[in-house]
Amino acid sequence: MSGETFTFTVDGVEIEAFPGQTIIQACDAAGVYIPRLCYHPDLEPAGHCRVCTCKIDGRRSSACTMPASRGMVVESNTAELNADRRTVIEMLFVEGNHFCPYCEKSGDCELQALAYRLGLAAPELPYQWPHRELDASHPDIFIDRNRCVLCSRCIRASRTEDGKTVFGFERRGIHMRLNIDAKALDETNIAAADKAVHVCPVGCIVIKRTGYRTPYGSRRFDQAPIGSDIEVKRAHHPAKEGR
Ligand code: SF4
Ligand code: SF4
Ligand code: FES
Repeated sequence: MSGETFTFTVDGVEIEAFPGQTIIQACDAAGVYIPRLCYHPDLEPAGHCRVCTCKIDGRRSSACTMPASRGMVVESNTAELNADRRTVIEMLFVEGNHFCPYCEKSGDCELQALAYRLGLAAPELPYQWPHRELDASHPDIFIDRNRCVLCSRCIRASRTEDGKTVFGFERRGIHMRLNIDAKALDETNIAAADKAVHVCPVGCIVIKRTGYRTPYGSRRFDQAPIGSDIEVKRAHHPAKEGR
């Protein structure tokens, strides 16, 4: 980071930022959590999921792509914005096939943890029960598209971190699905050590023979709500989002 710092506010909290930082980067560094799903700190932001949408000087925009600027006024933890976030999360649940009690990722899943944090107990929208394919062809990696939330983290990581092009999207709208650059995963050059395999926020890309090593109840979000690792940087731990 270089250049003189400046300040802006998020929900009335003054945040210090460096030139070039996005709102979410500056907030993370300052210990203010803005809910997010497609954003990953090691990857270029994509602005796909809309979970991080804030009101920035009165206009909605994604905090993961918007550069911070001097004096901007950001609203994030409001009843209105959190209701919108719940809707986005709810749609992701009903557009896929998520059976949390049986899922290997339960307790370590960002979608599930966001639902808990935002107070989404059970979806009210109708479940769509789409047909989604599994791919267990690779000796070390398993894909269960039922749980894919189309965040594109794996696509970005494969391209920019692994120097490969294993993943992509095909089709559009509600028919969009995760694609791979071969007929089956074992025909690609993916490896278990690839970044793309380790950034999935849900239980779609799974490394074989690692399941249940950490028992239910002892996992990341069993210990503390999502965002706690950021909020621990400042003495401010909101128990619930504004509703
Ligand atoms: S990926 Fe997450 S939300 Fe989906 S079934 Fe597994 S734990 Fe539940
Ligand atoms: S497989 Fe995982 S990382 Fe890739 S788009 Fe789906 S949810 Fe995102
Ligand atoms: S986290 Fe910003 S749009 Fe997904």
